[in-house]
Amino acid sequence: MHCYFIISNATINHYLLPNNIFIYISSPEGKIVAMSISEKLGDKKPIFKDRNVLLSAHDPVSLENVVHRDEQIDCYQNHLKYALEGFVPDNLFIYGKSGTGKTMLTRLVLEDLLIVAKDLKVNIAVININCENDFTENAVWQSVNDKMPIPEHHTRRKIGNSCPKHTTYFQDLLNMYDGILIIVFDEIDKAVSSFSSVDFINKIVRMKSATSGFSPCVICITNDLQFASNLKPHVKSVLLQSEMVIPPYNASQLQDILRIRAAAAFAPNALNEVVIPLCAAIGAQESGDARRTIGLLRIAGDQANNRDIDRVVTEDDVRNARTIQEKDCFFEGVRTLPLQSKLVLLAAIFVSKMDGKETTTKEVYATYCTLCKHIGMDILTYRRVADLLSELDMLRILSSHVVSRGQHGRYKVINIPRITALLELRIYDDPRLFSISELKVRRLRKYI
Ligand SMILES: Nc1ncnc2c1ncn2[C@@H]1O[C@H](COP(=O)(O)OP(=O)(O)O)[C@@H](O)[C@H]1O
Ligand SMILES: [Mg+2]
Repeated sequence: MHCYFIISNATINHYLLPNNIFIYISSPEGKIVAMSISEKLGDKKPIFKDRNVLLSAHDPVSLENVVHRDEQIDCYQNHLKYALEGFVPDNLFIYGKSGTGKTMLTRLVLEDLLIVAKDLKVNIAVININCENDFTENAVWQSVNDKMPIPEHHTRRKIGNSCPKHTTYFQDLLNMYDGILIIVFDEIDKAVSSFSSVDFINKIVRMKSATSGFSPCVICITNDLQFASNLKPHVKSVLLQSEMVIPPYNASQLQDILRIRAAAAFAPNALNEVVIPLCAAIGAQESGDARRTIGLLRIAGDQANNRDIDRVVTEDDVRNARTIQEKDCFFEGVRTLPLQSKLVLLAAIFVSKMDGKETTTKEVYATYCTLCKHIGMDILTYRRVADLLSELDMLRILSSHVVSRGQHGRYKVINIPRITALLELRIYDDPRLFSISELKVRRLRKYI
């Protein structure tokens, strides 16, 4: 079968399409030029053997393939082995910067635990919740209840948007389960917009199954090293029974991780020998983040793959890849800001859009309060918002300078980068803020 695309005056992106796909480009004179992608690929020397191995969703298949995490795996397994002996492990809090392997280790260690538990005929169930997807209390309850083990004869009930009803239903399901239940809340900081909302975890860890007498074991994972210090003491005492900190990788560890990935991802002799040490050195210098470093290698590979000649990944490809990654990094930095900082940034953008208005902290604060009310968020103090504006300045997301008004004192003027449209789009990637995207500046004007 042949597949045809008609594209007018278009640039073609390099998608990997199956064979027998023809692209018909109509030139400005209306002439049709046919080009087969398989022809375009020609018999160029391949760069990639399996590019998917370099995508962030790809993890090692088992714990044996994980390098430089023996100590952490050991610690994790020692912690969880109690479950195999019929005891509920302590709740565990895992911290570490992004890309240090927290999600991967948790998944692989728990998969391993379930295999051994099956052999030993010990009843253990694991529920994984990614709070980046399920960030409201109701969504978390919904997901937990959807994933709870249920007896064969039981039909899972549908609960609407009622947290108290979800809580009661969870207790019912827990009462029917006679094993050890482990619930993982990955990226827990994303589910907690105000710190009172960790109450759902507090409730979960304090419940007991009427059948087994066990409470669930909760594993919380976060990149936010400050997260626990903001928890209320009674929540802290139950959630932080045990803690594990996962350190960033150094250059030599990143090299080993990259070599394993590269062997599976690249065709033989596709990489110049400096490429892996250079990627690892850059990765270690920046953050020790394996995800970002693997990404750097992938972008460098793409650079070479887009060339018709000299099809080997070189030092220059890595340097170009770094520039590309840095550009993305600005927006990535915005995407991963905490919710309150995103609201402050949005408020500053809204104020800057009002013609003839200088953006001052006072005006940003007024707009910020309106946005918070719009999405039902707790409102921070003026002082805290001013601090968040300074943090955004330090991150170079916006800039500010102090202006003197003579005897009327001094005030701060905030400058927003010109790429506000792109910036806003990135902020609205956060589904919690989506409803703000429909708010018109006009409607906000009356509050200021
Ligand atoms: N020690 C390691 N060996 C192999 N791959 C690793 C290792 N550590 C991290 N990775 C890879 O790096 C990426 C990020 O890991 P992840 O567990 O998602 O990080 P985190 O959850 O800490 O942000 C994943 O693709 C993961 O497979
Ligand atoms: Mg993770």
